[in-house]
Amino acid sequence: MTEIPEHLLKRAAAARSAKSGADAPADSPAPSVDTPAATSGAPAASAPAVKAAAAPAPLPTLEDAASKAKPDIPVVAAAKRRKRVPFWAAAVLAGLPVWAVVYVAAIQPPPAAANDPMVIGHDAFVAEGCSGCHGANGEGGTGAVLNEGEINKTFADPLSVAYWLHFGADGGARADGTYGDLTREGGPHNISTLAGLMPGFPDMDPTEMAALIIYMREEMSGGDPAEDPNFNSEHFTADPAALAAMVEAVTALEAGNPDAVAGVEGAETE
Ligand code: HEC
Repeated sequence: MTEIPEHLLKRAAAARSAKSGADAPADSPAPSVDTPAATSGAPAASAPAVKAAAAPAPLPTLEDAASKAKPDIPVVAAAKRRKRVPFWAAAVLAGLPVWAVVYVAAIQPPPAAANDPMVIGHDAFVAEGCSGCHGANGEGGTGAVLNEGEINKTFADPLSVAYWLHFGADGGARADGTYGDLTREGGPHNISTLAGLMPGFPDMDPTEMAALIIYMREEMSGGDPAEDPNFNSEHFTADPAALAAMVEAVTALEAGNPDAVAGVEGAETE
């Protein structure tokens, strides 16, 4: 600490004594008891004078005194003016990365249920390239229209879709080119109707194919799960492996005979 200059100490002492009514040092600006006002009058007379003396200026604080005594160089002054980083800031800053991770995890939607056929099926529809020919929502394009109930009209049985997907137009249709329901509203579909031919997907994972079929029938086309009593979203969520086994039984059939699907266990023959 810088030493407090003598004259300031004296002023402070004078102010103190003035307040308490005691004698002030001789050289202080405080009134002396020798003043006429003080000697001639009663104690009451000296009171105003004392007050007046105490009033003049707000007494400088010790800090003011110190800084006046030795002015800081600009850098130090600036450093002193600058707001201090609070002591808890370091802890808060250190915790930020942890907070960020927790925050991001909290705002993420909960991970899709591993067994959600709509999520798996939609992903497969895009990843396998189906959307490229059939449109993002199954609205049709190079490929046939799949939405608005169309896929369910063509195939009454979800397992027949598995046969079609596995073999494609080449092995999935009958010898006369028809595929799906022969009693379909509007007549059976035929591979000669559209310009291109649907490729087969013999390497598709059976669980993925099961989800894809359910996604197209229930979500894309708005079908009622109750109409697929052996092969619907509820069954998939409860036991995906059971549906994958049914798909595998279908894809193990010979090509070129879609009607053989009716003999597979779980097939929904009407
Ligand atoms: C290269 C284009 C192309 C791709 C890729 C393709 N399809 Fe097709 N799809 C067709 C065509 C064309 C038809 C009509 C039948 C034919 O002419 O072969 C068809 C027919 C269908 C049908 C029968 C619809 C009906 O009511 O007649 C279904 C179901 C189907 N596709 C699903 C799929 C799925 C699922 C995928 C992806 C795994 C897929 N397609 C990939 C072109 C394609």
